This record gives sequence, structure tokens and C-alpha cells, in this order.
Amino acid sequence: MSGKFGKSDQAARAAATRLVQAGRRPEWTGMPGQPGTIVNPPIWRASTILYEDVAHLRGASIGDRHQLYYGRCGAPTGWSLAEAITQMEPEAAGTMLFPSGVAAIMAALLAVLRPGDELLMVDSAYGPSRSLCDGLLRDYGITTCYYDPLIGADIASLCTERTRAIFLESPGSLTFEVQDIPAITAIARARGIVTMVDNSWATPLLLPALGLGVDISILACTKYIVGHSDVMMGSATANAAWWDRLRNRAHMLGQMASPDDAWLALRGLRTLEVRLRRQGESALALARWLEDRPEIARVLHPALPACPGHAAWARDFHGAAGLFAFELAGGGEAERARLIDSLALFGIGYSWGGFESLALPVDPAPIRTATRWEGRGPLVRINVGLEDVGDLIADLDQALAHWRAAMGR
Ligand SMILES: Cc1ncc(COP(=O)(O)O)c(C=O)c1O
Repeated sequence: MSGKFGKSDQAARAAATRLVQAGRRPEWTGMPGQPGTIVNPPIWRASTILYEDVAHLRGASIGDRHQLYYGRCGAPTGWSLAEAITQMEPEAAGTMLFPSGVAAIMAALLAVLRPGDELLMVDSAYGPSRSLCDGLLRDYGITTCYYDPLIGADIASLCTERTRAIFLESPGSLTFEVQDIPAITAIARARGIVTMVDNSWATPLLLPALGLGVDISILACTKYIVGHSDVMMGSATANAAWWDRLRNRAHMLGQMASPDDAWLALRGLRTLEVRLRRQGESALALARWLEDRPEIARVLHPALPACPGHAAWARDFHGAAGLFAFELAGGGEAERARLIDSLALFGIGYSWGGFESLALPVDPAPIRTATRWEGRGPLVRINVGLEDVGDLIADLDQALAHWRAAMGR
């Protein structure tokens, strides 16, 4: 990687190389007695595992993560994907797979929190992550205190004896504030508080979060890992301190990912570096183009100096992904809808990280509680796909003309 999708950075280059090799063990891609191996592990579907005799059945252990035991405990397709994700982060001890990103977030929270604990949750978090805190966790006697994404080391002032965990999402996937992760993890480590991050935007390729002191790194693999908008999946990767607990809790919860989905996700993972680089470059080009337009009040993209937390992004990240947002210089819901409806190359829909461009109206103000969202105009979130960037700019250009017409300008 070079340029700023990435700084030319040895760690990022090494990660790109690891992506190709990771999780490819001969015992998962070959057959006993055969001289060769296939490149990708096949889809190992299983519920029942048959044993040679009772002694072997009794000898099998659920505790060994690469032993066939029972379908819910996994099989080589999922093991290969989990190992590949683990190998993206040098400090990682292991990865559990889940049927969605939200399931991964929930399992990570339940691995750590007990009734009576308090969770510090970033105010810019993905809406359903907040819903988990305000619904399920509250019902189980766990309280949540929301904090300003730009709080940095001042997080110390919120830590109490009950604070058990700090949840980060950086950048926020709607409003793109970048958090000072090392400052927060330093405070947490000193107090024995666990940290976990929703790292779906950067993936470990652009942000090896465990290396910055985070204990559990969570991915909505549905986004960039899968990359093709056709699979729901999540993962949680833990350091050595939290790996056993995470794995045990995920087993207790009965959580796993199907082997078919793991196979597709593994296929997506192999091309993550080229997709993310191209999508990141195109997104930055689009963001810079939008910045100069009179119709735009503000562009929220971590690689632009105006983005809150930009300095932390420049210090900690190896590049920028393809998701960002912009605020229109006036108008309301109807004019924003006119702009989005006029786009020909951007689909209208939830999610992001796939190969196709998307546009979404976003309204962060009502879900904030610790901070006030000081919006400058209606917000539009853009997922930049693999289309030609010139075509995407031309499409936005013509849609902005529709917006101007709706505004009477
Ligand atoms: C930042 C972020 N985290 C987690 C999720 C949840 O992932 P999933 O939809 O796979 O449950 C999403 C989904 O949009 C997201 O945007």
C-alpha cells in the first residue's frame, strides 16, 4: 500500500501479505495421502460428528478449538476464516464468528459484563449497539453511561468502581468522529477496565486495534470482510487475557456462523486489501470534490483535517475506508430526498462495505444523549463502491443540480 489510503507503512504491507496466506492450513485444504492441497478450504457442513468408538467420543474435547466435536463447535471452513481474521492482528489470541455484527457485539458485551456493572458506551455508536445497552443490558441490571467520542483521556472522569468496560466505535459510522484509542485504553488498563471496539469501518487492515491496547475487536463482517453485500456475519477477536472467556460465552450462547457463509466471507477476505484501497481512494476523491462545492456545508471524512478527531486518524490508522458523510448547505427532508432519489449509480439502502455505491439519509440528533449533534444541514452517508470514480462524481454532480432546483437556487 502506498499514498494515503495508506501511509507507506511496513505494518500495512505485512498485513496485506498475511491476508493472502492467513488461515490456509494443509489439514483444512488437503486429504490424507494426497500430495497436493487445494487453495481454499471447502464447505465443511456438519451437525453430527461420528467417532470411531466410545473411547474416541469420550476423548473429544469442546475445549480444543480445532477438534471436530459437534457442529455448533465449528468445522474447518469457519476455523480457517477465524484464524485468518486472528492473523490480521499480531496481538490476537483468537476469533469467534457470529451470525451478524450485532450478535458479535452482544456476545462480546456478555463475555465481559455482569449484573451491577456499568458500561461506558461512545455516544456516536451504531444505533442497534445503543439499543442493546438500553434494552437487553438494562434488563439484566447493567447500566450504560454514554460518553463524548472526542473525550480522550478525560474518560478517566467517568470511570467509577462499577465501570467494567468501555466500548468504542472509531470512526462513528454515522458521524465519523475519530476516537483517541490509545488515550482511552491507557486509562482503562491502569484501572483494570476492559476495552472493546467496533472496528468494522477500518478492519484490522487499516486499524490493528489490539495493538493500541484494545482487548476485544469486533467486526460486522457483513461490511468489508464479505464485501459483496450477500452475507450477514460478525466476528470478535480477543487478546490472550479475554480469549477463553469470549470463546466460552459464545459457545454458551450457541452462537456460530454457517460454513457456507464462512466460505463466502473467506473468499471476500482475500481481496479485502484491493477493494478497501480502491474504495478508500475513490471515497477520498469524492469527499475532496464535495468539499469544494457550494451546495455542501461540511464533509465528514476522517482523512480530511476538518473531521473531528482527524489528528487521531492520521496518527493511528493506515488509511481510510470508503464510507463517509456530507451535510447539505440548507434545505430539509424533501430536498435531501430529491438529491438521493436523483442519483443513478448510488443505491438507496442500509448497510455499507459492499462493492456497490450507496446513499442514505442519516439523522443522528435524536439518538445522541451525552453530546448534542450540532448538524449544519441534512446529512447524507455515502458508501463508495468499485464503480469508476469519474462516473460517481458525474452522478453526484447531476444530483446536486436536482437539489439546487428543489431549493430554487
Ligand atoms: C458500525 C456497525 N457495526 C455493526 C453493525 C451490525 O452489523 P450486522 O448488520 O451484521 O448485524 C453495523 C451494521 O450496519 C454497523 O454499521
